[in-house]
Amino acid sequence: MRPAWAAIDLAALQHNLEALQQLAKGARILAILKANAYGHGLTRIAQQLDGVDAIGVARLDEALALRNAGVVKPIVLLEGFFAAEQLPILAASGLQPVIHSEYQLLQLEQAKGLVNPLKVWLKVDTGMHRLGVEPEQAVGFYRRLQACPNVQSEPVLMSHFASADCPQTVQNEEQRQAFAAIQAQLQAPVSFSNSAALLAAVAEHDDWVRPGLALYGVSPFAEQTGAMLNLKPVMKLQASVISVRSIGAGAGVGYGAAWHASKSTRIAVLAIGYGDGYPRTAPDGTPVFINGRRYPIVGHVSMDMLAVEVGPDSDVEVGDTGQLWGPDLPVEEVARYVGTIAYELLCNVAHRVVLDYDSV
Ligand SMILES: Cc1ncc(COP(=O)(O)O)c(C=O)c1O
Repeated sequence: MRPAWAAIDLAALQHNLEALQQLAKGARILAILKANAYGHGLTRIAQQLDGVDAIGVARLDEALALRNAGVVKPIVLLEGFFAAEQLPILAASGLQPVIHSEYQLLQLEQAKGLVNPLKVWLKVDTGMHRLGVEPEQAVGFYRRLQACPNVQSEPVLMSHFASADCPQTVQNEEQRQAFAAIQAQLQAPVSFSNSAALLAAVAEHDDWVRPGLALYGVSPFAEQTGAMLNLKPVMKLQASVISVRSIGAGAGVGYGAAWHASKSTRIAVLAIGYGDGYPRTAPDGTPVFINGRRYPIVGHVSMDMLAVEVGPDSDVEVGDTGQLWGPDLPVEEVARYVGTIAYELLCNVAHRVVLDYDSV
């Protein structure tokens, strides 16, 4: 019996990549692997994604971990660099920062003695109001980057949709127009689409697309699962049943006895809890898949365990395996029960959960 583990289906990853490549219509793929490849294991996923053109991460540490593991592909830092002292490291390791603010541009212009000029991406805020230079600054910034000796030619012009998961929203059109107006003034390679924008063809044209979630077989859309989009879930989060007991009507289960049995029943305990990243906020009724059936979680999720009601006549026994999410129980659906998004569930999978690449 094993406590929590996640089987990672690398063939499913390959399937998803190929599906996205078809949608990308020749655009290059910047695969987003931040947050430990959305919980799937940074270096192993990077090594597997031979077919992509570049890898995107959020933190310098993530990029350096990849370089230390021998990954030679271009790596893009989606938030750029955080201090001028990092620039020599970026130059030496061939890392490509996203420039989103004037302080970064100034530091880049003032840097001395970099071993190589950097390939950079210029991010424009077309309406998300998170990162990016103002649309009216974009052409001037781009020209400064072109003139900067520390920058390689052809910076990529990029932006990010705030609501690509709602393809019909007017905000997408407004962002598209703001971006197109800048594009028209520059001969620049462009990048706009995340998973949702790529799946719903929200952007007009991309030279680079930036899928994250969809690579892992998960849907960014509220009403659809990955399977409905011809994607295959890569992660199957599992845990063993380590105890089964009978309880009488009225008995409480777990900390605070937050759930009480309405009749005599049986309770199976699985060796996974919030210490493994399974959300403590999962309410009563959140499903767990065991032996071909769904059973409801009852009571509060503990640090290392959770309880499901399997009923008085169940065949569930110690040693059985429960699936918390995966091909038989979409993580998108679990996220809905929990009141969060699949992104959060995936990237919260804790370090102690063994990622098993060979069991599928
Ligand atoms: C700039 C940028 N591009 C692409 C992505 C990938 O998004 P998704 O996982 O929705 O495909 C992200 C993720 O947040 C991002 O921040």
